[in-house]
Amino acid sequence: MYKVLTLNNIAVAGLRRLPRDRYEVSSESSSPDAVILRSHNMHDMTIPESVAAIGRAGAGVNNIPVSAMSDRGVPVFNAPGANANAVKELAVAGLLLAARNICDAREYVKSLTSTGDELAKDVENGKKKFVGFELPGRTLGVIGLGAIGVEVANVALALGMKVVGFDPKITVKRAWQLSSGVKQVETLDRLFKASDVVSVHVPLVDGTKGLVSADRLSLMKDGSVIINFARGGVVDSKAALQALNSGKLHAYVCDFPTPELIAHPKVIALPHLGASTTEAEENCAVMVAENVKEYLENGNVRSS
Ligand code: MLT
Repeated sequence: MYKVLTLNNIAVAGLRRLPRDRYEVSSESSSPDAVILRSHNMHDMTIPESVAAIGRAGAGVNNIPVSAMSDRGVPVFNAPGANANAVKELAVAGLLLAARNICDAREYVKSLTSTGDELAKDVENGKKKFVGFELPGRTLGVIGLGAIGVEVANVALALGMKVVGFDPKITVKRAWQLSSGVKQVETLDRLFKASDVVSVHVPLVDGTKGLVSADRLSLMKDGSVIINFARGGVVDSKAALQALNSGKLHAYVCDFPTPELIAHPKVIALPHLGASTTEAEENCAVMVAENVKEYLENGNVRSS
């Protein structure tokens, strides 16, 4: 019997790939053969020696000590692309929320207690207060042309935006999926200079920490927007705060609230919801369960 420890809620569709007659799946196993998780931070825990494989039901693996696991010969499987559609949809929603001031306008309407003519007057005031901007003709800069970045770029083109992209390591597969309308630039500075909106889609690794920095933000036009459904650490929070206060940024839309930014009126922060759809949770769980099973039973490392 293989023992699998789950450290977060994992979609049943994935767990069903581990047949009950051969797998004991539990959130409390003490000497598991494998661990399957979403965002639980494994850096803070002692990983039992019995663990032979780890499955991350998502794209990022920054919550797992990958290099220590490699030293132990333990493969870490993730699910690249399995939640790309979900993240793309939320990133585009975030852009639209920011462009049309929807969150502030909603709060405004919810706060109204007036009726009749007074309510009509308050509605008229809201109409003046929350004037937005349209997307056609504006430029979106997409940093990271992996599964998610490519999808975001293609939707932005369909919305009439110009799109510039940066990814020095774009794969042939993604290059094929990328619409020819996306202009790839050679440096991040060029991307920031050209863009009205920048959306980041890179993993959090040493080279991407604080990639959206004060210097790069200073290259943007006044009233720009940053969209971050990658990881909080990719954006320098202090620099973002300054840019929001100076008017350089119209909005910062992110999936990772940081204490200094949560309450800022120009921040739209969500509780790490990018991959939280039924479909994405199932896709990710199925992909990693199958990879973990294949490894435990046959020793094969399948590329996703
Ligand atoms: C990801 O890395 O794809 C997401 O963090 C997945 C999740 O929300 O669990």
